Amino acid sequence: MKILVTGGAGFIGGNFVYYILNKYPHDRVVCVDKLTYAGNLETLEGALADPRFVFYKADITNRRAMDGIFAKEKPDAVVNFAAESHVDRSISNPSVFLKTNILGTQVLLEACRKYGTPRYHQVSTDEVYGDLPLDRPDLFFTETTPLHTSSPYSASKASADLLVLAYYRTYGAPVTISRCSNNYGPYHFPEKLIPLMITSALEGRPLPVYGTGANVRDWLYVEDHCAAIDLIVRGGRLGEVYNVGGHNEKTNLEVVQTIVKILGKGEIVYVKDRAGHDLRYAIDPTKIRNELGWEPTVKFDDGIRRTVDWYLTHRAWWEHILSGSYKRYYKKMYGGASK
Ligand code: NAD
Ligand code: DAU
Repeated sequence: MKILVTGGAGFIGGNFVYYILNKYPHDRVVCVDKLTYAGNLETLEGALADPRFVFYKADITNRRAMDGIFAKEKPDAVVNFAAESHVDRSISNPSVFLKTNILGTQVLLEACRKYGTPRYHQVSTDEVYGDLPLDRPDLFFTETTPLHTSSPYSASKASADLLVLAYYRTYGAPVTISRCSNNYGPYHFPEKLIPLMITSALEGRPLPVYGTGANVRDWLYVEDHCAAIDLIVRGGRLGEVYNVGGHNEKTNLEVVQTIVKILGKGEIVYVKDRAGHDLRYAIDPTKIRNELGWEPTVKFDDGIRRTVDWYLTHRAWWEHILSGSYKRYYKKMYGGASK
C-alpha cells in the first residue's frame, strides 16, 4: 500500500509515518507537509533515510501542488493530519485555521476524486463535540453526539468533517473520519500542555496552569491513536465516524503534578484561563472496539513516564525548537528546494 500522509512532520503524523514503516515492510509513505512552525523535519530524520519514504514540502491548500503530487504518486490511501492544531493560536489568529483546516481538506477531497484515490481518512478531534460538564462523569461523547464547537480551531475541524461527509453522500467518496481525544508521547510540539510542562520544568521555567487546573482531558498515548487510524484505513466502513479514546480522564492539575513528581522539580503557577475553555472531554470508544477490535494498550502511568524519558533523552530535538534552529534543517537537507 502507498499511503499519502499530510502533516507528517507534525506530532501525530510523524508518529504515524514510523508506525506504518515499522509495521508494514512493503508499504510506502508519501509525506506532504508545509513545514509551518509546527512542522519539523528533524522528526522525520529516521524516515528520510528509508527508501520507502518520500517527502514533499507543499501546502495542502495549493490545488496545483496537490494535483502534481497525486498525479505522480497515485496513492492508495490519503490520511489527512495536516492542520493548524493549537486552540490558543486559533483564539488569537483564526483565519489560517479556516484556510488550512477547511479549504485544505476540500482540496484534498477534490484531488482524491480527480485521481480516483481508493481511500481518504480525515483525522479529526473530540473537540468537535464541544465539552461535557465536570459534574456528570456518566456522560461521554459518542459518534452521534451533536457537533457543538467552542473555539475557532474546533469549528474549523467540525466544518472539515461536514465536508468529508458531504463528499461521501454527494459523490460517493470513499471516506472515513476518526475523532480522537488528547494525544501525548514523543515529538509533541512544546507549546501543548504535556511537552510544555516537561520542557519548562527541565529549563527551570514556571509551569502555567490555566484557571484552577480543574479542566479534564482524556489522554491517549500517540501510538494507540496511530493503531486506531491504521485499522480504520484498512477495515473501517466507508462514510463512518469512529471515536478514539482511552477512558483515561485526568484534570490538568493532576497531569502537571504527575510530571513534577516524575522529574522531581517544577514550580506550578496559576494563570489567566483560556477564553471559552472546554471543561471536560471524554470519549466512548465502543464502536471502534466492537467493529475493529481496537483497544488502547498503554496505561497513562507508563505512557507519561515513557514520554518524560523521551524528552530527557531527546533534548536536542526540543532545544532546537525552543531556539528556532529546527527551521534550518530543511535548508540543510534540501538546500531550500521543494521536491
Ligand atoms: P501538529 O500541529 O503537531 O502538526 C500539524 C502538521 O501539519 C505540521 O507538520 C504542519 O507543518 C502541517 N501543516 C499545517 N498546515 C499545513 C498546510 N497548509 N499544508 C501542509 N501541511 C500543513 O498537529 P498534531 O497534534 O500532530 O495533530 C495532527 C492532526 O490530528 C490534526 O488534524 C489535529 O486536529 C488532530 N488531532 C490532534 C490531537 C492532539 O492531541 N494533538 C487529538 C485529536 C486530533
Ligand atoms: O482533544 C483533542 C485536542 O487536544 C486536539 O484536537 C488539539 O489539536 C490538541 O491541541 C489538544 O487540544 P487541547 O486544547 O486540549 O490541548 P492543550 O495541550 O493546548 O491543552 C490541554 C489542556 O491544558 C487544556 O485544558 C488547556 C490546558 N493548558 C494548556 C496550556 C498550553 C494549561 O493549563 N496551560 C498551558 O500552558
